[in-house]
Amino acid sequence: MTTLTNKRIVLGVTGSIAAYKSAELTRRLRDAGADVRVVMTRGAEAFITPLTLQAVSGHPVHRHLLDTEAEAGMGHIELARWADAILVAPCSANFLAALAAGRADELLGAVCLAGDVPLALAPAMNGKMWQDKATADNIRLVSSRGILLFGPDDGEQACGEVGTGRMREVDELVTNLADLFETGSLTGKTVLVTAGPTREAIDPVRFISNHSSGKMGYAIAAAAVEAGAKVLLVSGPVSLPCPDRVTRIDVESAEQMLAAVEAGMSGVDILIATAAVADYRPVQVHAEKMKKQGGHLSLELEPTPDILATIKAAHPKVFSVGFAAETTQLEEYAQRKLVQKGIEMIAANLVGPAATETGGTFGSDTNALHLFWANGNLRLPVASKDKLARLLIAHVAQYYSEYQFTPRVSGGKVVKLVERTKPAG
Ligand code: C5P
Repeated sequence: MTTLTNKRIVLGVTGSIAAYKSAELTRRLRDAGADVRVVMTRGAEAFITPLTLQAVSGHPVHRHLLDTEAEAGMGHIELARWADAILVAPCSANFLAALAAGRADELLGAVCLAGDVPLALAPAMNGKMWQDKATADNIRLVSSRGILLFGPDDGEQACGEVGTGRMREVDELVTNLADLFETGSLTGKTVLVTAGPTREAIDPVRFISNHSSGKMGYAIAAAAVEAGAKVLLVSGPVSLPCPDRVTRIDVESAEQMLAAVEAGMSGVDILIATAAVADYRPVQVHAEKMKKQGGHLSLELEPTPDILATIKAAHPKVFSVGFAAETTQLEEYAQRKLVQKGIEMIAANLVGPAATETGGTFGSDTNALHLFWANGNLRLPVASKDKLARLLIAHVAQYYSEYQFTPRVSGGKVVKLVERTKPAG
């Protein structure tokens, strides 16, 4: 089944007669679960109206680069950051040339330049224009920069000729786009993810817990499925739907989470512990609701089991990734935890007042991560949690395949991922 659930797609529409198909394409992308924002070039408006694409996408169409009102809303940089992928369909010979030249005189060119996400083109032009040497040079140039080509296909063209240059059929474009996210980098692997908070009961109606929303862990579970893994999600109480093709086991307390993880460990290759496990629990759990009394009340607390450390000690061959949420001294604490818990990788993120720049983290849809492993580290700058999860999974998959259980102390190789990404800032 083609799925683009939770994917944010910028659809660029340029001046080609095939632009009339962009309305249908927008509909199909949305049917597959994507959130679509349309960017039109001036040329595209000769073939289809912005109103049509606004109606089918459910959002105003982005048209102008130098429009102060539009830039104040979602400007070209925000659009590029927002996207998980950019698809230009149809891509005219003219826009291809502009892209090859790195031009940003139209909004779509600027968004393509500013994006650090997969960019795919669905060329649509007359067969002779497609075969022209200038077009061929431009195709070679953009391909060498990692830009993807979906088509063009052979067939009858609007000009009456038959040949190569027809825009690929809409349903096929949706499948091609979905395939970008289905990387296959974890095919045949089993991944167990812990997520959400735990609740430590005080009495039948009260508990100790924290602000964890579970969003990061759920996004990681979904990204691992996209990468081809079989995924088990052990989740504390959250109000999120279970991602497609993920098996979820619901728990409440740290003790239940430990038992559920232990029970699910057979055959697991990679453990990713994102759960915000309560560090302490009441020593005594009252059987009846505690009555309010005058004066202060003290609760005696005891430590909960460290699930990640316990499981890693019992299953040393499982590649284990922890999370470290800190309000200060992120790097130092994260690296210390990497060693203390005996794990292969840790993803550190700021929480609390220091995290305003990264979107606040708890409950927010954005975050920024700093990955550490035995002999390397990598910053993943502010992005949606879905996008970060996919990047994290890509790094875990690559490190895991290089690492293949050379013991951690001897150090895994530092791997540079080949991506269409640019340095932050
Ligand atoms: O020690 P700290 O709680 O900061 O460690 C965070 C990491 O350890 C996270 O990956 C978290 O899921 C995991 N953890 C755990 N069990 C605990 C505490 C933390 O698995 N009791």
